[in-house]
Amino acid sequence: MALTFTVQHRDGAARAGVLTLPHGRVETPVFMPVGTQATVKGLTPDMVRRAGVQIILGNTYHLALRPGDTLVAELGGLHRFMAWDRPILTDSGGFQVFSLATQVKITDRGATFRSHIDGSPLELTPERAVEIQQNLGSDIAMVLDQCPPGAAPDDVIRTAVRRSILWAERCKTHHTRADQSQFAIVQGGTNLALREECARELVAMDFPGYALGGFSVGEGPEAMHAALPACAVLLPDAKPRYLMGVGRPEDLLAGVAAGIDMFDCVMPTRNGRNALAFTDDGPIRLRNAKHRRDTAPVESGCPCDCCTTFSRAYLHHLFAADEMLGPTLLSLHNVSYYLRLMASAREAIRGGRFEAFRAGRLARWEGRSI
Ligand code: GUN
Ligand code: ZN
Repeated sequence: MALTFTVQHRDGAARAGVLTLPHGRVETPVFMPVGTQATVKGLTPDMVRRAGVQIILGNTYHLALRPGDTLVAELGGLHRFMAWDRPILTDSGGFQVFSLATQVKITDRGATFRSHIDGSPLELTPERAVEIQQNLGSDIAMVLDQCPPGAAPDDVIRTAVRRSILWAERCKTHHTRADQSQFAIVQGGTNLALREECARELVAMDFPGYALGGFSVGEGPEAMHAALPACAVLLPDAKPRYLMGVGRPEDLLAGVAAGIDMFDCVMPTRNGRNALAFTDDGPIRLRNAKHRRDTAPVESGCPCDCCTTFSRAYLHHLFAADEMLGPTLLSLHNVSYYLRLMASAREAIRGGRFEAFRAGRLARWEGRSI
């Protein structure tokens, strides 16, 4: 069995459970840090593990371009290549093609585009997306989908939904690896009728897990928070539900409240590289001159190596001097922060007090969100 999922506790629509995968056990709801290019940027696997990370995300598009998925396979697969022995989920590449490649053309056959690295012409079909992920050997592979911008008109979203259903079917047919599970992706933007249609078709195909794609693509957090409860219940209750590319701490809690089990986002690492730290009192900008003599840790009480060892003054200095340890330490703190937030959410669900927990966090972040 490549995947088992058990919901152990429920609190309203929120659930706490356990996902078992070939490379290990994952407690849900879970946050997956992004390791686009076979590295969680700035952190060694040991640092990532010590931050409490149970599963990371890798990217088909980047790894197929460089170093190449057949090379990774030859070197023993993605886990061995990057020396990460816990679970990995890989995204299918469509989303990255649309955001990074140039001269992108999409037809029912697939996407043709030019590489953002050297301009070479390439094609990504559903079958190729499956092959790449089978070569990488991730525990969970995503189907190829088409994700339109949040503000796209209904006919564009309708075409993307039809194509994403077609592509999911082809991905399922082409998938052969018994030690990898394939998740489908529901598109439909903020149009609930299209989401319903897309979910109905994909649920009938009986995938082992389901994702909501097409969120955090410019529709605004209020529209997303409003749409999530109705969209989450379209996905099978007994299977893992994954909200792709989301988000800020408050967005994660909105997702958990709606019954989402898995999240990924570049926010903790990207913002860490940019001198922004997430804390229970809202974000802190370490480049700000007010931290020049600040002997406090980034967040008092945080058990991460950044906070137990260094002061805000030191972090301020590292960023002012453009030293590479600054991005590393704040990425470490932010990943630890996201992981602790999800651990607290799981505890609150188990204790039947998730809504009080969420309200408490939102009250402390109020007016200070990024
Ligand atoms: N990452 C964030 N959103 C999406 C999406 O809609 N589809 C895919 N494949 N990846 C994503
Ligand atoms: Zn910390």
